[in-house]
Amino acid sequence: MKKKISLLLVLVLLTASLLAGCGKGNEANIDKKNSEVESYSLEGIKNKGKIVLGTSADYPPFETHVMVDGVDQIVGFDIELAKYIADELGVELEIRDMDFDKLLGGLSTGMLDIVIAAMNPSPERLEEANFTDIYYESKHTVLIHKDNASNITTTEDLNGKSVGVQLGTTQEEFASTNIEGADVLSLTSNPELVMNLKTKKIDCAIMEEFVAKSFSKANDDLLVVEGISIDSGSEGVAIALKKGNDGLTEKLNEIIADAKAKGLVEEWFLEAFELYN
Ligand code: ARG
Repeated sequence: MKKKISLLLVLVLLTASLLAGCGKGNEANIDKKNSEVESYSLEGIKNKGKIVLGTSADYPPFETHVMVDGVDQIVGFDIELAKYIADELGVELEIRDMDFDKLLGGLSTGMLDIVIAAMNPSPERLEEANFTDIYYESKHTVLIHKDNASNITTTEDLNGKSVGVQLGTTQEEFASTNIEGADVLSLTSNPELVMNLKTKKIDCAIMEEFVAKSFSKANDDLLVVEGISIDSGSEGVAIALKKGNDGLTEKLNEIIADAKAKGLVEEWFLEAFELYN
């Protein structure tokens, strides 16, 4: 009799622990399912109802701050593209304005879902992040003070000059590897470069052609050097995403292709550039 009871006890205990084990297993499975949906993936973005954009709003006509009715806003070509993407995905757009050199880090930590910041998908960056197709083909050029017009007319003229660039950009890379004897000044934002040009603390600054044109439109004393073209390491600019975020990359490529086909991309660009007349 005693034996029977203890056998029963063992059986009861065994079943109980098996059941408990099963329960745990199920919970673990559900947990796994939830965590498999990363917040920055296409599904994750739809679930949270918003897409978080990282940009560096110091780069007209791509992205810049303006006062609209006394309220500071971030506007520009890239922002129009971001708004269109958010609409197409049926989610809200949240904009985080950051230093340009922190943007890719923001993607890898999952703080940002996408980066639209006139960013070139250079070979080094392609190792670190996903990029969409090029949404805009752009060249890089040189902005100078008018008083330097006769001193800087060709790429060779840049040798030995003080060259201003934004920190973490392909322009910084170019200046430090391709301009002989350059005294490179890397600053966090482009308006700071403009100030340094105006006060003649630097001889020139490298930036995207239409950015240089925007700053020269807004500043009578600045000039874009025609005839200097700087290699950016890529055909143009693209949207950056976290490495491996392939589903969203594919979806954004469809959206970009569709916006281009509708003539919207060109329209947004021209409108944004017109703002800086
Ligand atoms: N096209 C350059 C790069 O990819 C500079 C971009 C700077 N963008 C900005 N929003 N400040 O490095």
